[in-house]
Amino acid sequence: MCGIVGAIARRNVSKILIEGLSRLEYRGYDSAGVAINNEEGVFSHRAVGKVQALKDKFSDQLLDGKMGIAHTRWATHGKPTESNAHPHFSGGDLALVHNGIIENHEPLRLELKAKGYVFQSETDTEVIVHLIHDALKVEPSLLNAVQASLAKLEGAFAIGVVQNDDNERFIAARKGSPLVVGVGIEENFVASDQLALLHVTDQFIFLEEGDVVDVTLDKVTIYDAQGEQQDRPVSVFNHSIDATDKGEFRHYMMKEIYEQPKVIRACLEGRISDNKVLTSCFGADSGFLKQIENIHIVACGTSYHAGMVAKYWLEELAGLPCSVEVASEYRYRKVAVPKNTLFLTLSQSGETADTLAALRMAKSLGYLTTLAICNVPSSTLVRESALTLLTNAGAEIGVASTKAFTTQLTALLLTSVAIAVENGLSAQEESALVDAMRSLPAYVESALAEDEHIKKIADRFANKHNALFLGRGAMFPIALEGSLKLKEISYIHAEAYPAGELKHGPLALVDEDMPIITLVPHNDMLDKLKSNMQEVAARGGELYVFADKDTDLHNEDNIVFTEVPKVDSILEPIVHTIPLQLLSYHVAVVKGTDVDQPRNLAKSVTVE
Ligand code: M6R
Repeated sequence: MCGIVGAIARRNVSKILIEGLSRLEYRGYDSAGVAINNEEGVFSHRAVGKVQALKDKFSDQLLDGKMGIAHTRWATHGKPTESNAHPHFSGGDLALVHNGIIENHEPLRLELKAKGYVFQSETDTEVIVHLIHDALKVEPSLLNAVQASLAKLEGAFAIGVVQNDDNERFIAARKGSPLVVGVGIEENFVASDQLALLHVTDQFIFLEEGDVVDVTLDKVTIYDAQGEQQDRPVSVFNHSIDATDKGEFRHYMMKEIYEQPKVIRACLEGRISDNKVLTSCFGADSGFLKQIENIHIVACGTSYHAGMVAKYWLEELAGLPCSVEVASEYRYRKVAVPKNTLFLTLSQSGETADTLAALRMAKSLGYLTTLAICNVPSSTLVRESALTLLTNAGAEIGVASTKAFTTQLTALLLTSVAIAVENGLSAQEESALVDAMRSLPAYVESALAEDEHIKKIADRFANKHNALFLGRGAMFPIALEGSLKLKEISYIHAEAYPAGELKHGPLALVDEDMPIITLVPHNDMLDKLKSNMQEVAARGGELYVFADKDTDLHNEDNIVFTEVPKVDSILEPIVHTIPLQLLSYHVAVVKGTDVDQPRNLAKSVTVE
């Protein structure tokens, strides 16, 4: 999604802004731009494509100045062209960058056109800069003009504004899109996330919904949605959890796949004893666990798949009804909330617009409490939820979520066991589950050992256009996740089915061109799955089977076998995820796609 960086300093800020944009590249974007304010005016460069294209423009024509704003754009209104790239200008010396969507941009555009404003782009954003320009005609203070203009906007935004007439400050604001202030010594910054500013500061202020901030060299003044000045706490970034370079790996995604044993260990650390889940991990008061009678899980994308797995665990271990829903649907329907229902959100970023909107709606629906399982401690989701369980996976940069997913599953397993203990799980059963969890990092390590073998298999997918993933029970959501990974980064159309559904339709697709990836743990569904595989084999389909040795499956004419470690059945969904991540990674590499920043996708989906 769009990314914003803003800076004011005693030194030239252009390099700081460009470095900030490079650090935001992982979020996904299709064009970039920067505006620099100096004694002679506000000047900008904009370019379609990568931040490198913008850097090249600086080599042709250097822009120097001590204040500026910069942007990576992920197109929503209007194609990714230079004229639609931000910053947008009004009157030549007022420039603005924006992340979000202005829903009432059409009537505003008409009003502004009637006042004589000429639009240079197709974006919704351009109305904001003209509104501010118009407000400045009656209200000379940039801060007041911005506040007056924001009051007219419907939708979501984070913005940064510079004006040449006022070279002592820039103004930024957020409502519905993330924005953080970076505090320096005689220099201050804003950005869409902390990672964009770690090269200049480790001190941050997280803005609240509706905040407007006046940023000068030595002061950051924050006003809330009512215009009242507010003090917000400064937090210091913990560098030990930052891992933003690729190390020995060619792509972030592969580095993050290989980090999984370590981060799963970090997710469990301090949360299990020899034989128990330590409920203190949910905060000082874990009394809510006793009261839970139902669970509603709401999330998007990969996080939604993690929620689907948790439904199996919660219903099996705790015997409590659990529903799982994508946030974009949940937020727009009337939801019946039974008594004592836990509202549980899952999100890697904690900034996903639909998940945040669902949480805000849920707060008015009488839930028992709200729990967020999230990877980013400073995120809006964490700040707005009553309870949090952090996944501790460290920064995830690859757009395709990997370690965030397996740590979400680990955190969900901890949660499921903690709830189950209050619902009749015996001490002996709890102890066995805790033992299983403790062995998880080692099993993930063994699953990674199949990397070379999977790399060879990946070659066979290079010319495929479709793939089918099959799983049963808690492995069905893993099949869905495997198919999402493959389509996201290799652009191969992939679908997932519970294997029992094959003969109700998808079997019609099966022929020798259709790879069928089947997840076959050795559990009580094994014989059923083997029958499903026979149905495929009988129609010439090529089966890629991921199974443990005990299943007695192996390479055959129409079966390509990959061994997955034999584990306690509760761990199967987590361990079976690893080979599917490796498969999609290697297929993408064979196909030569942009693995870490696949086309059209964004890391943090901060707009609806
Ligand atoms: O940050 P979140 O977990 O809330 O993000 C939700 C989805 O946008 C995300 O999982 C998306 O599906 C990933 N690209 C999957 O790899």
